Amino acid sequence: QTTQRFQFTVEWKKVSRLCHTKPLLTVNGEYPGPTIAVHEGDDVEVKVTNRIAQNTTIHWHGIRQLRTGWADGPAYITQCPINGGKSYTYKFKVVDQRGTLFWHAHYAWQRASIYGAFIIYPRLPYPFSAPIQAEIPIIFGEWWNGDVDTVEKEMTMYGAGPNLSDAYTINGLPGPLYPCSNEDTFKQTVERGKTYMLRIINAALNDELFFAVANHTLTVVEIDAVYTKPFKTNAIMIAPGQTTNILLTADQLPDSSGMFVMAARPYVTGIFPFDNSTTIGFLRYKQPRIAEKTKIPTIPNGSFALGNLPEMTDTEFATEFSNKLRSLGSPQYPCNVPKTVDKRVMISISLNLQDCPANKTCKGYKGKSFFASMNNQSFVRPSSSILECYYKNLKIINKYAGFPEKPPREFDYTGGNPMTQNMNTEFGSKLLVVPYGTNLELVLQGTNLLNEENHPIHVHGHNFFIVGKGFGNFNAAKDPSKYNLVDPVERNTVAVPSGGWAAIRFKADNPGVWFIHCHLEAHTSWGLAMGFIVKNGPGPSQRLLPPPPDLPSC
Ligand code: C2O
Repeated sequence: QTTQRFQFTVEWKKVSRLCHTKPLLTVNGEYPGPTIAVHEGDDVEVKVTNRIAQNTTIHWHGIRQLRTGWADGPAYITQCPINGGKSYTYKFKVVDQRGTLFWHAHYAWQRASIYGAFIIYPRLPYPFSAPIQAEIPIIFGEWWNGDVDTVEKEMTMYGAGPNLSDAYTINGLPGPLYPCSNEDTFKQTVERGKTYMLRIINAALNDELFFAVANHTLTVVEIDAVYTKPFKTNAIMIAPGQTTNILLTADQLPDSSGMFVMAARPYVTGIFPFDNSTTIGFLRYKQPRIAEKTKIPTIPNGSFALGNLPEMTDTEFATEFSNKLRSLGSPQYPCNVPKTVDKRVMISISLNLQDCPANKTCKGYKGKSFFASMNNQSFVRPSSSILECYYKNLKIINKYAGFPEKPPREFDYTGGNPMTQNMNTEFGSKLLVVPYGTNLELVLQGTNLLNEENHPIHVHGHNFFIVGKGFGNFNAAKDPSKYNLVDPVERNTVAVPSGGWAAIRFKADNPGVWFIHCHLEAHTSWGLAMGFIVKNGPGPSQRLLPPPPDLPSC
């Protein structure tokens, strides 16, 4: 049994991008943060020391945290934050998982710059045969010239504009399509004829992205650290919170520059003035006769070939791509989708626009503000850790029980004025409670005020299977008969289609308190979240472990 130990120090570091220098929150001074690489079955210990004058927590996104919810990380859900000057050691075991995940801060918008790759090497050889020359992490992020805390505040205020980031980044680098960024361009050298595994992570705060490499075909082999049936595609789509492993063979004949462009830009469905900028990097074919330090080819503004990148609003590609994702379902890696369910919960996802209630501060703004809700509850984080209250049986937990199992009313998605159909939301922290081992189905129904983008809904502590998806309203009488219960894809974050629904299933076999939320950070700030409790099971190995002694207190 191996224990892998890491030291994370959360600290400010001056970083420059787009000719703006500003203090940036980092781990160990690195941006993006350090890569954690471990093996399936390892015990992991990360000592996080907070050297900033604000709270922080770190979340190991997609790690199941079987019985170790104390190490999951979302502030006020599974722990009180780590105060400035304090430290906390996250201890957990990587059980029956392998592939690409990531870690990020889970306090306010700190994950804007506090994130990094989390790689789990498998016990068994990869289930695909191509020899891999090298594995290349590709992490998408966003850069703001200004202060991210201010952006978070303004996001909530109606009429303040969408507060877009100033650049998308690949491994922290925006690339030459942004001002002043020629030097800050990601370049990866490859050898002709060799195959590479790209470990792609979308750590951006607010945008689902398309990604493509000019002239090259991508083979998708894994999603959210679960193997898939391999398939070839010209581009991929990846929402915040999702990860995708692809194989790429350097099989093209480069021109004299030796360069092929790779590019990522958002997928949106609306007409809102969303950011349509593009981050690019380069694959550089190793060529003996060309000097190593090849310059980036000059890119005539706006008019260079983006290769295979879909248009920003290409819903057809988006739908096709997500339909191609299937569990590998091999004898070694079977697809364990629950064939029957014990409980189906209908959850409406709404964006709301309403006056700030008197008992809320609404980030300092009065008047109309944006909120978001699940089943008409806009999630409010309490001032203590829900998991701790639950474990210690503190009275306060009563306040949190009783999440409604269906929306307060049916939302007619196909007709009517969405402005009038939008419900004013309530504010609260009610939780869904399920017994250990429940086969749970969640039907996530979009009922957005603004139909602009998919909602990447992330479930903590569990992977799930996407058994169905569609546009319009979910039909409880008809749609379940069309579910895929043979090889649905297993993952931890589902992009609920804009103007549609997604049905997910999983066995609730991880006792504790778990967060479910939209991985668009703006929507989480607005309250697009809920929590659920999985009760202890009867067996000794079906119980939440006791809290570690150094667990922070509020
Ligand atoms: Cu990646 Cu609750 O987060």
